[in-house]
Amino acid sequence: MASPKLVVAPSLLACDFARLAEEVRKVEEAGAAWLHVDVMDGHFVPNLTIGPVVVEAIRRSTRLPLDVHLMINHPEQYAKPFIDAGAYALTVHVEAPGLRSESVLLKQLADIRAAGARAGLSLRPRTTADTLTPFLGSVDLVLVMTVEPGFGGQAFMPDVVPKIRQLRQAFAGDIAVDGGINAETGKSCREAGANVLVAGTAIFKSGSYRQAIQSLRG
Ligand code: DX5
Ligand code: ZN
Repeated sequence: MASPKLVVAPSLLACDFARLAEEVRKVEEAGAAWLHVDVMDGHFVPNLTIGPVVVEAIRRSTRLPLDVHLMINHPEQYAKPFIDAGAYALTVHVEAPGLRSESVLLKQLADIRAAGARAGLSLRPRTTADTLTPFLGSVDLVLVMTVEPGFGGQAFMPDVVPKIRQLRQAFAGDIAVDGGINAETGKSCREAGANVLVAGTAIFKSGSYRQAIQSLRG
C-alpha cells in the first residue's frame, strides 16, 4: 500500500515561546509542511501547555496547517474551541477518560469532522494497534506516540516500530509519529509506513532548521 505524502511537522513545544511568531515564521521558511501543537492539561499527562487562545494567535501568524494534539482527559469539552481557534487536524487520545466508550469516541471523531477539521486518533506507546481497529474507518490521521506523552526531549522507543507497520497494513490515511524523532529514528518510522514526522528537539534545538527538516525527509 503506497503511503500518503511525506510531511514534516515541527512541534512548537521545543520552540522559544518568547519569540513564538518568529519561530513559526522560521520553520515555515525552512520547509515545514504542518505545525504540531501540543495541548496538555496536567491530568492526562503531568504537564501543562497551551489552550485555544494561543492556537488562535498561532493561526494568525502562519498559513501552515495546525496539527493540534490533545493530551487531555476531556477532549469532548474542548474539541470545538480548538477547531474554532483554527485547528486543521484535531487529534484525541484513545485512552482519554472522557472518551472511554466506543460510541462516545466514534461520536467525538464524527463531531470533529463535522466541525470542519480532520480527525486524528493517538495512542500511548503501550496501547496496542488493535485498540484502534473499531475507529480506523472514522479517522484521517493516526498519531503513534514513540515516547510517553508529556514532555519533549525524550528518547525514542524502538519497540513501537512494529506497531507502525501493523497500522500501515490496516490504514491508508496519514500515520504520524511523535516523540524522539530525528533523522535516524524518523527513517525507521518512514520505513515502517509512517508519513508524518513530528519533531520538536531535532528541529528547534538544531543549528539549522532547514537542514534539520531536510534530514528528516531523508
Ligand atoms: C510529547 C509531545 C511531542 C513532543 C515531541 O508529549 O506530544 O509532540 O513535543 O518532542 P521531541 O521531538 O523533542 O521528542
Ligand atoms: Zn505531540
